[in-house]
Amino acid sequence: MKKRWIIASTILFAAAVAVVGIWFFNNRKKTEKAPEYVLMYAENQSANYPTTLGGEKFADLVYERTNGRIKIQIKYGAELGSEAEAINQMKYGGIAFARVSVSQLAEKIPEMNVLLLPYLYDDSAHMWRVLEGEIGDEFLKKTENYNLVGLSWYDAGARNFYSADKPITSVEDCAGMNIRVQESAIMADMISALGANPIEVVYSDVYSALEQGIVDAAENNWPSYESMNHYKVAKYYTIDEHVRVPEMQICSEYVWNMFSDSDKEIITECAKESAQYERKLWIQREERSKKKAIDSGTQVTTLSPEEKKKFRDAMSDVYVKYCGDDMDLINKIIDY
Ligand code: GCU
Repeated sequence: MKKRWIIASTILFAAAVAVVGIWFFNNRKKTEKAPEYVLMYAENQSANYPTTLGGEKFADLVYERTNGRIKIQIKYGAELGSEAEAINQMKYGGIAFARVSVSQLAEKIPEMNVLLLPYLYDDSAHMWRVLEGEIGDEFLKKTENYNLVGLSWYDAGARNFYSADKPITSVEDCAGMNIRVQESAIMADMISALGANPIEVVYSDVYSALEQGIVDAAENNWPSYESMNHYKVAKYYTIDEHVRVPEMQICSEYVWNMFSDSDKEIITECAKESAQYERKLWIQREERSKKKAIDSGTQVTTLSPEEKKKFRDAMSDVYVKYCGDDMDLINKIIDY
C-alpha cells in the first residue's frame, strides 16, 4: 500500500514539474525577441576547419554584443556555391558575409594581385607584419571598389605542390604536367611559367580531378590537402611555399549600409577578434594535418634553397605582367 502511494506521488510530482517546465518554455519563447537581421555567411571549407570555426566565433560574438539583434548563419562546405559565385552574389546583397581566398577577390579587384605574387614573403611573420600594418589596411579598403567591405584577415599558411604519380623535385619536373589552379589568372600564369599546364578546377572538385587523372598535381596548404582528402590521391608533397595567399572576411556593402554606425563598429571588432582566434587554430591544424598525411603515407620533398631560387627566377615575367606599375609597393612589402 505504502509502495503504491510512493509511486503515485512520484508520478504526480513528475507531471507537475513537466507542466511548470512547459509553461516556462512557452513564456520564454513569447518574451524572447526575434533577431532584427538574420544574415548568411558563405564559407567553402568543411565544419571544424579553422576558417569555419573562426566564422562561428564571429557569429557568436556579433550575436552576443548586439544582444541577439544580429544573427549570422554560417553556411559552410560551399553550400552557397563556390567562392567566385558567393562574391558575385554579395555585390547585390544576396549573401551578407563571406570568408574567401584573396585569389578570388583579385579576379574582381586586380590591385589585389600584389598579394598573390610568388615568393613575396620570407615567412609567415613577414606576411603578418604586412597585413597587420598600414599596407594590410589599405588592401582591406580596396574591396570598396567592388561594393564590398573588407573586415579582417584570416590565415591560410603557405601553398605547396602535391602530385599523384611522381614527386616534383625541380622546375624541370613540372614540364608538361597538368596542375590544378584556383579560378585565378595570376595563379594560372604562375603554373605556365614553370612549363606546366594550368587547369582551373573549383575547390570542391579537386579531389575527383586528381583521382580521375584530369590533373596530375595541385597546390595548397597542409590543412586543405588533408581536410579535402587530397593526400589520399596525391601522395607526393613538395614544400616550396610558392605563395602565401591570405583569406579575407568580407561584408556586402549593400548589407553594410543597413547597419548603424555602432553596429558597424561591433561587427568590425568581432571580425578582428575572430581572426585572432582563427590564427591560433590555424597553427595547431597545420601540424595536425601534416602529421595525419605523413602517417598515412605522404612523402615530403623539401626544395633546397638553390632549387627554390630556380622556381623564383622562373616567375620574373609574372611579376612584370601583373605588378609592373606597383613596383614601389612590392619593394616596400619585400623590405617590410
Ligand atoms: C584554400 C582556401 C580556399 C580556396 C582553396 C582553393 O583552401 O582556404 O578558400 O578555395 O584554397 O585552392 O581553391
